[in-house]
Amino acid sequence: MAVRYPVFVPAYAKINLTLDVVGKRDDGFHLLRSVMQTIALHDTIALTPLESPEIMFACDNPDIDDGQNLAVRAARLVRSTMGVPGGMSIELHKRTPVQAGLGGGSSDAGAVLLACAELWRSPMLAPQLGDLAARLGSDVPFFLAGGTALVEGRGERVEALPDAEPLWIVLVKPDIGLSTKRVFEALRRDDWSDGSRTQIVVDRIRTAEPIPLDELFNALEPGVLRTTPEVARARDALLGAGAPVVRMSGSGPTLFAPFRGLAEAAAVTRLLDKRDLAMWLTRTVPRSEYSSAIRQGM
Ligand code: C5P
Repeated sequence: MAVRYPVFVPAYAKINLTLDVVGKRDDGFHLLRSVMQTIALHDTIALTPLESPEIMFACDNPDIDDGQNLAVRAARLVRSTMGVPGGMSIELHKRTPVQAGLGGGSSDAGAVLLACAELWRSPMLAPQLGDLAARLGSDVPFFLAGGTALVEGRGERVEALPDAEPLWIVLVKPDIGLSTKRVFEALRRDDWSDGSRTQIVVDRIRTAEPIPLDELFNALEPGVLRTTPEVARARDALLGAGAPVVRMSGSGPTLFAPFRGLAEAAAVTRLLDKRDLAMWLTRTVPRSEYSSAIRQGM
């Protein structure tokens, strides 16, 4: 019997450069217009095909529940959809914080969907993969291609954009997790927007111009700042350390500050009052790097 070695797959996190909430569907999901961008902070997943039919799971973070984990559910979904007889061992080295607004669980699911289809030799057409991704969660379809994308609907409509201007990103996360569901529930009608902030940023990206950093926007941010003092304090800490632009990513609580120069980003990380805050200095990841890193070794 041939010995199967694991394949290491990176699962990159994302930030939302913009996030407009433009309406609500009858089923309660909100309609979004968002520019999403992959960043270098990532989990690492080791995948090994098994002859036996089970999906095995191990993770270095004891808080991750294996039964409901999105990576496991993604593998099960490919297996049942494609009628694959074998199984998969999934080892998840978790570095992206959970419930943080960085799409950590969704990126794991996206990477596992792509890798399982490849390792089980079950090629799927893009619409079929997109459909499976949307069933796993609103942010998962974006992670099939990564890079810079305009994401609409509940998250299932993903239009790849040219790569946005590369940026250094300082991430700051207060020591709390926020439930996406609760953040959307707390949203007020006057937090909704018309999508024009996203449009301004999309237009600039399409014409390969610098990102207008002062137009970055997140409709979920005012509600979270109103109700969560830890996020307001983290924002004050970043602004106090000299970050010119600070925005929340997704449903929070992680905040990001974008920089064109590493020296400016590093100065902010040094000056930041880090009490009760986790911090990362990372960068944006373009689409070509994203897809070649996921496919490497398969
Ligand atoms: O799709 P996902 O499981 O990530 O969504 C978690 C929750 O966030 C949903 O149950 C819904 O309450 C809320 N949500 C929303 N509109 C979206 C995405 C998520 O209201 N576009």
